[in-house]
Amino acid sequence: MRNPFVIREIEADEPFCDRTVELRELASYASSFSNVVLYSPRRYGKTSLIKRVQKELQDKGVMTIYADFFGLVSIGEVANRLAEHLYAYCHKDESLFKKAMKFIKIWRPVIRPDPDSGFQITVEQTTQHSGLDLLKETFDLFGAFAREHMNGFHVVLDEFQEITTLKDSVKIEGVLRSQIQTHRNVSYFFVGSRRRLLLDMFNEQKRPFYKSTVNYPLDPLPRKEAVEFIVDRFLAGGKECPSEIAELVYDRVGGYPYYIQRIPFDMWEQSDEKTMTARDCEKALSSIVKIDTPFYESILSGLSIIQKQLLYALAKEPFPNPLNPKFMIRHKFTSPGSTQAAHKKLITLDLVERSDDDGRYRVIDPLFDSYLKRGW
Ligand SMILES: Nc1ncnc2c1ncn2[C@@H]1O[C@H](COP(=O)(O)OP(=O)(O)O)[C@@H](O)[C@H]1O
Ligand SMILES: [Mg+2]
Repeated sequence: MRNPFVIREIEADEPFCDRTVELRELASYASSFSNVVLYSPRRYGKTSLIKRVQKELQDKGVMTIYADFFGLVSIGEVANRLAEHLYAYCHKDESLFKKAMKFIKIWRPVIRPDPDSGFQITVEQTTQHSGLDLLKETFDLFGAFAREHMNGFHVVLDEFQEITTLKDSVKIEGVLRSQIQTHRNVSYFFVGSRRRLLLDMFNEQKRPFYKSTVNYPLDPLPRKEAVEFIVDRFLAGGKECPSEIAELVYDRVGGYPYYIQRIPFDMWEQSDEKTMTARDCEKALSSIVKIDTPFYESILSGLSIIQKQLLYALAKEPFPNPLNPKFMIRHKFTSPGSTQAAHKKLITLDLVERSDDDGRYRVIDPLFDSYLKRGW
């Protein structure tokens, strides 16, 4: 039998745990053409959730575009990716595709056969414009195209904070903001995992996007639903996982959505027995930590000594304020200035975060956290 757990982005028709309220609220924001910032740590299910929201909107006749800004290298690429995904969406309807070509005339679609998906659409520029001008023109034309569609548009810009890595990023934000606010029947979702970078774009007073959106954090999965999900999926895969074992999985990772599939995935693979036990859960946890160790090591090798020291300290002792003199003495920090700088850096890198429950900073990824707890 096939492993019933999925450890890649989940397609809209695959089994999904809960998120009913989120799905309803996000679809409702989209339907009222609100702009939303959706954020959470990585692998919390933002992209999977958004695909479901878009599927629901498509069923209501709303047109949808999903563009991922991961690995962005230039301003032109922002425009390029929007045009590319617009054509990809319109391709299913010939008259719509022709209409898009008429409106978005500065980008010409190029269709090539693709062994996996049948065909692949890329775009070529037909103007001499570049940089901010090209960006402005593309969004301008998209706005005009969108106005033609009564049911409106939903545009997802995933990993949107990548914009901030480009030269002239504040000018890009300025162009996008001034364009987007004229697009009355389009709802934009700005999605991202690098929360400090993303939220600063929308919450800093001097930035173009200041207070222009609804902030929507995505939480870990709820316990009851996640436990049911794990139990059900095991059954679908022909094995049994008692509730208390599913609870153990949940509690070991605090409902972290990715691990809710990753741990059971490994348990299902590794156990020859029909019924799962606590030992299977522990075995899966240690094998995941082992497999991911090179990844942890590469994170650590990118940090300075004091940043590493603070990361280890917060894994051992989650704490509300690392500048507290007692915490500093316990973990052998000598300079408040450099400790503060290291703390800021760990937050920007999304390695640690303050938890709402107890106000303590802790390592975000639960398995990286257990790896760090073992010490240097
Ligand atoms: N609601 C959910 N139900 C089941 N699995 C989920 C759910 N949300 C996330 N996951 C798991 O988490 C993984 C990461 O999801 P993804 O959408 O890529 O997260 P993000 O975009 O936040 O980084 C998925 O591959 C899936 O295994
Ligand atoms: Mg994602």
